[in-house]
Amino acid sequence: MTTLLQINASIHSGNGQSSQLANQFVAAFRQREPGTRVIQRDLATDEVPHLTAERFGAFVTKPEERSAGQHAVAAYSDTLINELKQADVIVLGLPMYNFGLPSQLKAYFDHIARAGVTFKYTATGPVGLLTGKKVYVFAARGGLYAGTPMDTQTSYVRDFLRFLGMADVEFVYAEGLAISPESKAASLAKAGAEVARLAA
Ligand SMILES: Cc1cc2nc3c(=O)[nH]c(=O)nc-3n(C[C@H](O)[C@H](O)[C@H](O)COP(=O)(O)O)c2cc1C
Repeated sequence: MTTLLQINASIHSGNGQSSQLANQFVAAFRQREPGTRVIQRDLATDEVPHLTAERFGAFVTKPEERSAGQHAVAAYSDTLINELKQADVIVLGLPMYNFGLPSQLKAYFDHIARAGVTFKYTATGPVGLLTGKKVYVFAARGGLYAGTPMDTQTSYVRDFLRFLGMADVEFVYAEGLAISPESKAASLAKAGAEVARLAA
């Protein structure tokens, strides 16, 4: 049975354009594979706290030496990581806000990057431990950036996921959503066709 983890990062939760594209993909994927188990994580309704020195301290303290508070922080991070470990397919709704990713998603990333848990350092460099997964990213933007040097979001997300072992990543873009109603409609139609192609 396939397990799919859907992570929505829009501040508009399921109403965000990125979430809606991700939803379309998940619906089509489920039609193709009806037995798929879906885990939902909405970063707007279930906000991940910012990483602080205190929280990071919990990650780097040995389990047997953690305080009760540190155990709780590590357990919360473990819950997020376990969802990823279970997933064969990961679907990420990725809005662009102020040229970058939503801070909610950055906080999530900060809670899943754990040395010795999701990556390790070796003599030949870092090795990601979350392997064997396929990731689909549905990126929504008001402007046009894909394929240009201004699209630092794509390279950042790709590099971060690769660092954790997820190198098989496919991006679908819905861009120009704020340019005009026509641009928005054309872009969503194009992205929708891409969703259908990927889930077919
Ligand atoms: C706070 C905020 C900041 C934004 N910053 C950018 C930006 O820097 N570049 C851009 O192309 N679009 C920007 N937009 C437009 C969003 O990318 C667009 O609304 C997109 O649909 C967001 O994804 P969502 O609908 O899934 O939340 C911004 C929107 C908001 C609400």
